[in-house]
Amino acid sequence: MPSFAPAQLSHKDRYHLLINAIVPRPIAWITTRDAAGTVNLAPFSFFNGVCAQPPIVSVSIIDRVPPKDTLVNLRANGEAVVHLVPMGELERMHASGGEYAHAVSEAEVLGLALLPSVRVAPPRLAIADVAFECRLHRIVEVGQPVASLCLLEVVHAHVAEWIATEDGLPDPLRMRAVARLGARNYLTGDGWKIRAMPAQDVPPKLR
Ligand SMILES: Cc1cc2nc3c(=O)[nH]c(=O)nc-3n(C[C@H](O)[C@H](O)[C@H](O)COP(=O)(O)O)c2cc1C
Repeated sequence: MPSFAPAQLSHKDRYHLLINAIVPRPIAWITTRDAAGTVNLAPFSFFNGVCAQPPIVSVSIIDRVPPKDTLVNLRANGEAVVHLVPMGELERMHASGGEYAHAVSEAEVLGLALLPSVRVAPPRLAIADVAFECRLHRIVEVGQPVASLCLLEVVHAHVAEWIATEDGLPDPLRMRAVARLGARNYLTGDGWKIRAMPAQDVPPKLR
């Protein structure tokens, strides 16, 4: 069984150690806007929930030269919309991770319709089943090359009618958001095997 200290690995292999093992990863499909009004769209799978009160999600944006537009826009105005990726949007989500110039809107190039947001300036994707309008809470810089761990507070949420439960919350089994496996492989909801488990039976003395 291969076992090693991460320091023995190249930077590339350290990255693959994480992304091939931590699977499936949810994907934050993020719109931001710059001062000229250009709407940027990009996917990020170092993404998760952090805290419920206030509701905060985390996205880790790895530094490069020039820096990623999403990070540039977040640092400039602190606003973003985080979407989960509907199953039918795998191809356009993947394409939006390509290299586009700062002045180019990936949403426009890919023909994705936008709707105005309620609390933030960046618009949201009309096609998304769940959209979280977010304000930047804090950026924590980690490692070298720097990963900017962006903590984003959800200030308004949109849930599509067809995936909403009676109380308006998202039903993950109806939503079936796309997740990432390794580098260019994805998990889509049509291939899921769902297993519901009973509540845990806790011995009375531990209750
Ligand atoms: C599914 C997917 C997940 C990605 N996850 C991340 C991530 O978590 N962090 C990151 O820095 N880049 C990630 N990338 C790469 C960025 O999407 C890519 O660098 C993109 O060009 C950044 O766009 P921007 O310059 O418009 O912000 C991912 C790409 C794909 C396709």
